[in-house]
Amino acid sequence: MSRSVAESGLLAAARPRYLWLMRPTRYSMIASLLLALSACGGATPEAATPPTPPTTATTPAPAPSTEAPKAAESPAAPEASAAPVAPPAPAHDIWSDDLSKEGKVAFMKKNVMPEMGPIFKGYDAKRYGEFGCKTCHGPKFKDPKEFLPALTFKDGKITAFAEKPQLAKFMAEQVLPHMVTALGVKPMDPVTHTGFGCNGCHTVKMK
Ligand code: HEC
Ligand code: HEC
Repeated sequence: MSRSVAESGLLAAARPRYLWLMRPTRYSMIASLLLALSACGGATPEAATPPTPPTTATTPAPAPSTEAPKAAESPAAPEASAAPVAPPAPAHDIWSDDLSKEGKVAFMKKNVMPEMGPIFKGYDAKRYGEFGCKTCHGPKFKDPKEFLPALTFKDGKITAFAEKPQLAKFMAEQVLPHMVTALGVKPMDPVTHTGFGCNGCHTVKMK
């Protein structure tokens, strides 16, 4: 049945503990798959540390030479060896509670907004036309767990899957995996109960 994927994650997700970045764990295949599927989203190069790089004078780029080299006089072009080497593919920024406040704001702007905006807008362009920090943090800028409606975990399930199936499905299939990508964290592992789940954004009450 199609609910099982989402719900198995949710079962674990309902654990009300704070579960960022715990020790490495085994992933379920589903979790890895979700991660792989969402990995095409905005990976970006720099670290999140907000940083005003000192404005040291950078060496001016050499003016590109448009002159055709004179055959006789130009031996092997020495510049060739100075050509910039492409940097190795950078790992995604990783969210950490240890980031400074400014670091967290910068991280949200750089990673969360560009990854999550299109997801919410794609689901409902009208409702999320003004997608922003407020969508998750509220107008008074709270922790999302305080601002967003709490979810209820009862009889082994999050009740929203029965009560608000469309939204819950969107959350499970799109919001959650893309947030995992945006934060660079590990998805909730239903076996070890570590990783990022619904409870990364919502309070989950056990009934
Ligand atoms: C898609 C939802 C979402 C959006 C949009 C979003 N955030 Fe967040 N933000 C979160 C979540 C989830 C956390 C983690 C909360 C926690 O630590 O439990 C968080 C944490 C933070 C924190 C750290 C709070 C703390 O107490 O340590 C800051 C600061 C923050 N966000 C700023 C922003 C800013 C600024 C924006 C807009 C540019 C923004 N967020 C947009 C979901 C979001
Ligand atoms: C990245 C943060 C984030 C994660 C992770 C997340 N949600 Fe949400 N959720 C939201 C936001 C933001 C809203 C508010 C949407 C709105 O107001 O239109 C919301 C709203 C909801 C609602 C509607 C609540 C109501 O009463 O109106 C339900 C149900 C829901 N989420 C279920 C889930 C489930 C189930 C999961 C895990 C599969 C989940 N959410 C994971 C951010 C998140």
